[in-house]
Amino acid sequence: DDPRIPAIQSRIRVVPNFPKPGIMFQDITTLLLDPKVFKDTIDLFVERYKSKNISVVAGVEARGFIFGPPIALAIGAKFVPLRKPKKLPGKVFRQEYDLEYGSDCLEMHVGAVAPGERALVVDDLIATGGTLCAAMNLLERAGAEVLECACVIEIPALKGRERLNGKPVYVLVDSQ
Ligand code: PRP
Ligand code: MG
Repeated sequence: DDPRIPAIQSRIRVVPNFPKPGIMFQDITTLLLDPKVFKDTIDLFVERYKSKNISVVAGVEARGFIFGPPIALAIGAKFVPLRKPKKLPGKVFRQEYDLEYGSDCLEMHVGAVAPGERALVVDDLIATGGTLCAAMNLLERAGAEVLECACVIEIPALKGRERLNGKPVYVLVDSQ
């Protein structure tokens, strides 16, 4: 494994019982406080994706907005925000997805991505996989090809990968 990974793992703060009892919250804000480790995190993704002819990096609100843009800039791709409902002013594709209780929704501007573009989806974490599944659906509805999803953290026990219809997910660390 890459020698930068253990430091990344150690900078993720695990907060028990937040935001609800029983949840072990994976807090990436502590990773952002260490510029060397934050840079290593971005570099690991950039090294993986720089030669893959990716034209669009799509970041999932909110925490995908932290990791997506620096990756997009470094690989020379555009950045497209996938937003929570009713935030985007233009015509949108809308994709609902199930949460543990209830549902949520992501939206993407029509016209932000052209048919045939090669896309990378970025978020901080994959848990049940519902969020990434919705994100991929938005890009595919716009005619883009999603090469892969990239996250800093995976919670393997929640088996989110099984929800992604075989689409690869690249993660740096497993939750502790
Ligand atoms: C968290 C996390 C991922 C998503 C993963 O976001 O940042 O986006 O949950 O969960 P899943 O794999 O079960 O779908 P959240 O919706 O809590 O909001 P935030 O990023 O806006 O804080
Ligand atoms: Mg999120």
